[in-house]
Order: sequence, then structure tokens, then C-alpha cells
Amino acid sequence: MKDRFGRPVKSIRVSVTERCNLKCFYCHREGEWHIHRNEMTPEEIRKILEIARSFDIRKVKFTGGEPLIRDDIVHIISLASPLMDKDISLTTNGTLLPKYAQDLKDAGLRRVNISLDTLDPEKYRRITGKNTLREAIDGVFTARNAGLYPLKLNMVLLKGINENEIEEMIKFSADTEAILQIIELEAPREKENTGFFKKYHVNPKFIEDHLEGIAKEVVYNELHRRKRFIFNFHGKRTEVEVVRPMHNTEFCMYCTRIRLTSDGKLKPCLLRNDNLVDILTPLRNGAGDEKLKELFIEAIMRREPYWK
Ligand code: 5AD
Repeated sequence: MKDRFGRPVKSIRVSVTERCNLKCFYCHREGEWHIHRNEMTPEEIRKILEIARSFDIRKVKFTGGEPLIRDDIVHIISLASPLMDKDISLTTNGTLLPKYAQDLKDAGLRRVNISLDTLDPEKYRRITGKNTLREAIDGVFTARNAGLYPLKLNMVLLKGINENEIEEMIKFSADTEAILQIIELEAPREKENTGFFKKYHVNPKFIEDHLEGIAKEVVYNELHRRKRFIFNFHGKRTEVEVVRPMHNTEFCMYCTRIRLTSDGKLKPCLLRNDNLVDILTPLRNGAGDEKLKELFIEAIMRREPYWK
């Protein structure tokens, strides 16, 4: 199914909770800013994924908040995995992976992205407000041992905090056979001129330029046309993806995803909240498949490139 701009929708990003056990100061909260206790049940999530599937959406990424904070996360994955047969993954801060990685894998989860901005305990505490670096790193190893592959590490680039840690993070990724994703700090237009954004934002173009010079191969991720550089680092095959969303028209042009908030609203764009389509309320009020499909189409038709 294509939107008004000719962009096919191929994947869905589902937030299962806005709660989190960390407090990362830069977090965009998946664009969800209100606190609520209106989380979808596993069955409701399955129903909405069934509707998505009827539009040939067969890839899902679960997010939060922190998705592993839900004690029914394994059940959610087991209901979703038969439907989402092209890809099923989850983004987590990793701290609860030692507890859940194997059960998630057994329930059908393919892979995980682990948020890890630094390997320095003091910086980690400064970023996340917590002292759980050890648990997060253990999470990386447990995920790897459980066969959640390919493992990706999400590193949000923060000026004056971790911009000098790139080489170390590449080394850690090479050692753990993970793909490092270096992510540009992202915010909507109205926040770009705030002190916060100016203080911490760095354009990762310089990293792309550097990697371009040493790469054996450059591949493009279908989603957002993100560039992935493949090279040898101390004799080890290493992959680094650079995610540059800000003011990037190509990023939006190649956006093929739709989102679902943790309170059941279809969300056409991370950076906007004025075009959501509530699908959970009608579902709870007994709407049938035809009505739910109409709502899905409405959300797809509201998709619009943010940077154009
Ligand atoms: N800018 C860029 N990336 C962010 N993330 C969270 N907040 C931001 C932001 N403001 C990323 C984290 C996490 C993923 C879910 O989103 O890396 O892994």
C-alpha cells in the first residue's frame, strides 16, 4: 500500500509502553509525550498487527519506553511472530536482556537493537540517570549468545559527551560482532533552536566522510536509505551504519514505516503529533475488520515527508 507521495508502507514500529527504567535526557520518547496507563493488551496488539498484515506489512519493531519493562513482553512477541514473518525485532536499553533474551528468542524474536551511547560508567550515568552500564553490557552478550542476530548497537551522538568515543564503540561492536548505528540527535523543527539541542547536536557527516574513505563496501538500508559501511577493523569485519534524519529529504523520501503509540494510535511520523489516528478506542468499542482497515488506510494517507 502506497501513501500520497508514492512511498510504500512496509513496516510498523509498535510502542508497547511509555514507561522506562532509565531517564535518558535526550530521549524523544518515540514522539509520545503524555503519561498514561492505557497500554494495549497483547491481544489488542495482535489484532492491530493482523490489520497491518492485511496491507502486506510483515515487519515489526517493538519499542517503548522500555519494552522489556512489560512482564508480558514474551507473550506479545509470540503472538506477533507468526504474522510478522519478514522481520521481528525490538529496541531496548539492554538492562533486562539478561533476564529475557533466551525466552524472547524462543518466542520468535529475531534480533534486537540495544541503546548504548557510551562505555564509560560516569558518562552512562550522566546520560541515563542510572548506574546500569554493567547490566546493559551483559545484555549485549546475552543477546548475542541467544542468537538474536544481527545485533545492533544504537549510539546517539552527543556533543561534548560521546563524540570522542566513536573509535572505542566501533571496537566494541567489532568485538561483539554487532553493527554499530551512529544516530544523529533528532528533534522537531520547533525544538531545533532550543539551548538543549544546540548544546548537544552534532552533524555526523564527518563520520560518514571518514568511513567512506576506509570502507571496503557501502550498502544502503532500504529504510531511509541509511548508509552502512563495511570495513576491516584490526582484522575484523566491521559494520557501521550512520543515521542522519535531520533536514534529510532522502531519509523521509525512503521512509517506509508507520508507527503505533503505546495507547493505540496510529502515528504517521515520529516528529508530529497532530495527525494521529486512534485505532484502539474503536477496537475496544467493537469495530469490525472493515472499520479498522479504513482507519489504517486513513493513517497511511496522512503520511507526509517531514523534511521535504
Ligand atoms: N534523537 C535520536 N535518537 C534518539 N533515540 C532516542 N531519543 C533520540 C533522539 N532525541 C534513539 C535511541 C534509542 C532509540 C529507540 O531511539 O538510540 O535506541
